[in-house]
Amino acid sequence: MKIVKTIEELSQARRELNGSVGFVPTMGALHNGHLSLMQKSIAENDHTIVSVFVNPTQFLEGEDFHTYPQRTQADIKICELAGVSILFMPTVEMMYSKMEPTILAPSSKAYVLEGLARPGHFDGVLRVVLKLFNLTKPTRAYFGKKDAQQLYLLQNMVASLFVDLEIVPCEIVREDDGLALSSRNVYLSPQERKDALLLCESLKVATHAIIAGERDIAKIKTEMLQTLKPLHVEYVEILNRDFDTISTIEIGNSIILVCAKVGTTRLIDNLWI
Ligand code: PAF
Repeated sequence: MKIVKTIEELSQARRELNGSVGFVPTMGALHNGHLSLMQKSIAENDHTIVSVFVNPTQFLEGEDFHTYPQRTQADIKICELAGVSILFMPTVEMMYSKMEPTILAPSSKAYVLEGLARPGHFDGVLRVVLKLFNLTKPTRAYFGKKDAQQLYLLQNMVASLFVDLEIVPCEIVREDDGLALSSRNVYLSPQERKDALLLCESLKVATHAIIAGERDIAKIKTEMLQTLKPLHVEYVEILNRDFDTISTIEIGNSIILVCAKVGTTRLIDNLWI
């Protein structure tokens, strides 16, 4: 595996790759969720590039940019053992210049849900991912369904800016007890770790209601909110897969999204129905 730290080194290493290239962008602190993206990419492509870059433009003032978990040595080992071809670890100065055109995510879909609590977050995500796509020139890029809104906005960007690659959505990876993996789970105390299970519990409640024949979104949301009562809920939403409001479940075209604060840690989870 080549570890490259500059744009020039990356361009050189990328030129040496023949065949299809899968790309897995990350902010590091790699866990089994990231590993599953890498494994899928490695299975489907001749080469895989992983980036580790904590992107400042997607963090708001007061968020955890400066304290975001960093595990450089462990990240390198994980990528190496997985069979990654190139690991790209740039600095902020390399990725951003003082004067550059910017990109704005469509506000109707980017300033709701995650974007309501984190206005501008998705502008920063699209901006960095487009840069990374231009640098790595992948055939396919791998993103987890856990960040469903991010995935939707990236798919929209690729389609509307005619970016020539395929976005591959990947399944959510969970702990044995159901907690969706997240780099931010390390912030949870033992009690908060238990409380965090209420997010996936609420999705189970919704699933049971739907299996029992319930289609009314207002009723399903009420049941979920009941389960989530002990937490500080930010949103419970059931939308279609274009992130439009719907009033009844559309099987095969709906996403149930939940976000709650457990202690001071904001957690998200979702279920594709
Ligand atoms: O999902 C993430 O980890 C980040 O938003 C991404 C896609 C690596 C962009 O910084």
